[in-house]
Amino acid sequence: MTSTAPSSGASRALSSSSSTSNNNALGVASAKSGPAFITNAPPVSGFIGAIGNTPLIRLNALSDRIGANVLGKAEFQNPGGSVKDRAAHYLILNAEEQGLVQPGGTIVEGTAGNTGIGLAHACRSKGYKCVIYMPNTQSQEKIDLLRMLGAEVYPVPAVPVSDDMNYNWQAKRHAEKLDNAVWTNQFDNPGGNRRAHIETTGPEIWSQTNGGNLDGFICATGTGGTLAGVTRYLKEKSQGRIQCWLADPPGSVLHSYIQSGGELLERSGGSITEGIGQGRVTENLKPDIGLIDGSLHIEDEASIEMVYRALDEEGLYIGASSALNVVAAARMAEKLGKGSTVVTILCDGAYRYQARLFSRKWLESKNLVKAIPEHLQKYIVLE
Ligand SMILES: Cc1ncc(COP(=O)(O)O)c(C=O)c1O
Repeated sequence: MTSTAPSSGASRALSSSSSTSNNNALGVASAKSGPAFITNAPPVSGFIGAIGNTPLIRLNALSDRIGANVLGKAEFQNPGGSVKDRAAHYLILNAEEQGLVQPGGTIVEGTAGNTGIGLAHACRSKGYKCVIYMPNTQSQEKIDLLRMLGAEVYPVPAVPVSDDMNYNWQAKRHAEKLDNAVWTNQFDNPGGNRRAHIETTGPEIWSQTNGGNLDGFICATGTGGTLAGVTRYLKEKSQGRIQCWLADPPGSVLHSYIQSGGELLERSGGSITEGIGQGRVTENLKPDIGLIDGSLHIEDEASIEMVYRALDEEGLYIGASSALNVVAAARMAEKLGKGSTVVTILCDGAYRYQARLFSRKWLESKNLVKAIPEHLQKYIVLE
């Protein structure tokens, strides 16, 4: 396992051609031909039907600067606003398939926010009640939104998973006390969460790159569902050719785990990113972690800079985990070589975190103002 492995076939083939021909190989629509506003996709069935089939966006300024293709899967375009809509749908589907919940029942989950938001939407559309436990360190925007969506929300002290009062165990006990209720257990539910990405995200990435015309995939993990599911699908379809790497924020143990070949679980510091970083190998990740080829640690300074760069240079208003993924994808593409193509996940928009990410006071409290280039500091518009 390495973070510097050169990529095989596809990268070399692409690196010999110019940026323009890479775009053609990928089928990237020319900006000159205008955006594809007109679609002939048929109507979909409700909230659930609107999940997925998100665009794969070439980040043009970044890609041109580094001479590679960084492609971001625009998961903020899901109807609940994040990549976790996919997991939410499959968590409920899996519970229904196993007869764990009947019509009118209650879905209970421990979630840092986005899974809860996806679940709250899905529960309204399917007639379930929704109960959410979350660490009280999460942004107020997410807590407010969950309540607006009709969920019963319990922000509880952030304690490690080894503690009985961890938000997940509180959610589990809550479900056990109710009739016709299920704890959907997103962290350790490969048949729900990970499966969402094997059956939807992975196949979409494959077909949107003209049948696997990519060299690498990289993303950070929270539950591990996205990384595990997409990696499993892409590795199988490409017979191992596509490099799949983990991106890790400060405070997460997975980078050290991968770099040490599964020996170390070193934890130090914390991160401004929300929804990612992990202290253990979840059940979602376990079946596929052996397929991961490398990992990159991404510091908060780079992630916050990318929040502002993505806005200024690409017109994309993305959250910090998405920005971390973009930084990681660019670094991976640079390691794989000129002309390589790397896909990552744009997990959600910055709307959910704007009171922090665009607040001078908050940035100062994290000592991050100087990480934002001076010409981009005009976007720090909140006190
Ligand atoms: C903003 C954000 N990014 C990334 C992730 C990580 O996705 P996964 O849980 O599939 O690892 C999450 C998960 O909640 C999230 O909320």
